[in-house]
Order: sequence, then C-alpha cells, then structure tokens
Amino acid sequence: MVAKILDGKQIAKDYRQGLKDQVEALQTKGYTPKLSVILVGNDGASKSYVNSKKKAAEKIGMISEIVHLDESASEDKVLSELQRLNEDDSVSGILVQVPLPDQVSEQKVLESINPAKDVDGFHPENIGKLYSDQQTFVPCTPLGIMELLNHADIDLEGKDAVVIGRSHIVGQPVSKLLLQKNASVTILHSRTKDMHQHLKNADIIVSAVGRPGLVTKDDVKEGAVVIDVGNTPDENGKLKGDIAYDEVKEIAGAITPVPGGVGPMTITMVLNNTLMAEKMRRGIE
Ligand code: GUN
Repeated sequence: MVAKILDGKQIAKDYRQGLKDQVEALQTKGYTPKLSVILVGNDGASKSYVNSKKKAAEKIGMISEIVHLDESASEDKVLSELQRLNEDDSVSGILVQVPLPDQVSEQKVLESINPAKDVDGFHPENIGKLYSDQQTFVPCTPLGIMELLNHADIDLEGKDAVVIGRSHIVGQPVSKLLLQKNASVTILHSRTKDMHQHLKNADIIVSAVGRPGLVTKDDVKEGAVVIDVGNTPDENGKLKGDIAYDEVKEIAGAITPVPGGVGPMTITMVLNNTLMAEKMRRGIE
C-alpha cells in the first residue's frame, strides 16, 4: 500500500480562504479581528513561527502585531504588556509564544491571559473546559490535526490511536480530542517500556516528540494513519519529522509530510481561533 498524502499546505489554503470570507463579512459590520503575539527573546524558531502567524493573519484581512520583548525582560514587564493587551479593546486574540526565558514563569503568564482572548487555549480555565467537554479555545496544533483527519474522512470511531508525547501543547490535548471522537487512546512517553508493541497495533499514530526518524516502517501496521508533528531542523536547516517518511509512506494508509503537513494547519487554527474570539465578544453566531 502506498499512503495517501495528507497535504496540509493545500487543506490550509482552502480553509484560510473560508476564514478570509468570514473576516470580510465581519468587516462589513465594522469589526476587524486583531491577533497580538508576545515574543520574548531571539530564538530563531520562535521568531519564525510568530512571523508566519502574523503574515498569515494579515493575508486574510486581520490586523496582527508582534510585541517583541528583550531576552532579559522581567516577568513584571511581560505581565504588564499582557495586561495592556487584555484591556485593549482593539485586540481580539492574544498568544504568548513559548518557551519563555527562565526568569519568566510560564504558568504565571499563561494564567494571566484573558481567557476570552486566549486563542492558544493555554489558560487553565480553557484547559478545564476542554477536559470537561465544554466549548472553548482548543490548542492550535491538536485542532489542526483533527481538521486534517476530518478533511480526509478518516473515521476514528472505535479505532486504536497511539499518541507519542505528553506535552500540554500537543500530546495531551490531541489525546482528548481523539477520545471525544470515540477512539481508544494510548499515550506513550519517555518512560514507556515497549513503544514498538503499542505502535504496531495502532490504527492512528500521532508523533509529537521532536526526534527525527523515531518511527520506522517496522513500527507501523499496514494501512495505519500516521500524523507527524515533529519539525526538527537538521544540520542544513531542513525540517525533519519524527516519522521515517520515505519508508513509512510505503505501508501507511495516510501520512503527513514534513514540512507541509501539520505545520500549516497549526497556523490556520490560530486564525480560526482569533476569528472565533472576535465573533464571541461581538455576540455573533
Ligand atoms: N511554541 C510551540 N508551539 C506553540 C504554540 O502552539 N503556541 C505558542 N504560544 N507557543 C508555542
């Protein structure tokens, strides 16, 4: 079997056209969604992510700004900038790029985002809502993965899903979303005894650990759906996923490439959530 390629780039492009139409419709009512991003420090990957988010927002007619603070910025400085954005009526959605420098408590910062503007879904109130099956902002990478699966008409009902990685950004929330779709979900992590045994039985594999080549063809059942969240630069700066793509695509049923799979969907869901934030506060839909 040769896998169906889940073309995140194309699916994201189509989805963003739909968002662009909705932004235009909002503008006729006098509202323009605005995404504000706080970036602390000069990490190359973080800078590149936030620039992509800003560019994508502007491309569909939103306003976007990056509040760029120095690597040495104090926690108070980050919190006061955040407070300003919380109170600024022109701002629909706020995203604080993580990781943050050591002197700034990530927990304190994420707890201080106005939950109604928390387009990343990282505030404890929104996390709580997700885990109690209430409507809320859902973290963007997990949401993008679900949209990819949905777009490809992949039925999750009763399927065995295996998620590698237990982060709060991807592993745990995507597990919850898969469970909501009635998959049976197993989460693997660095202390898992026999990863191969779990993977070999999986109908769906989601890998989000950042270890290139972690999942090989020997780990994958014929026809399995394989979602790669890894994006680790190699020595030439080329992005590599967790899945040994060339060999796994020969036996999987469907697979996401890196780049061009999950990445563009994450950014699309940032836009989706920003639009949702604007609509909610204006009482639309
Ligand atoms: N760092 C890595 N992924 C993300 C993300 O989805 N949101 C934020 N804010 N920071 C990240």
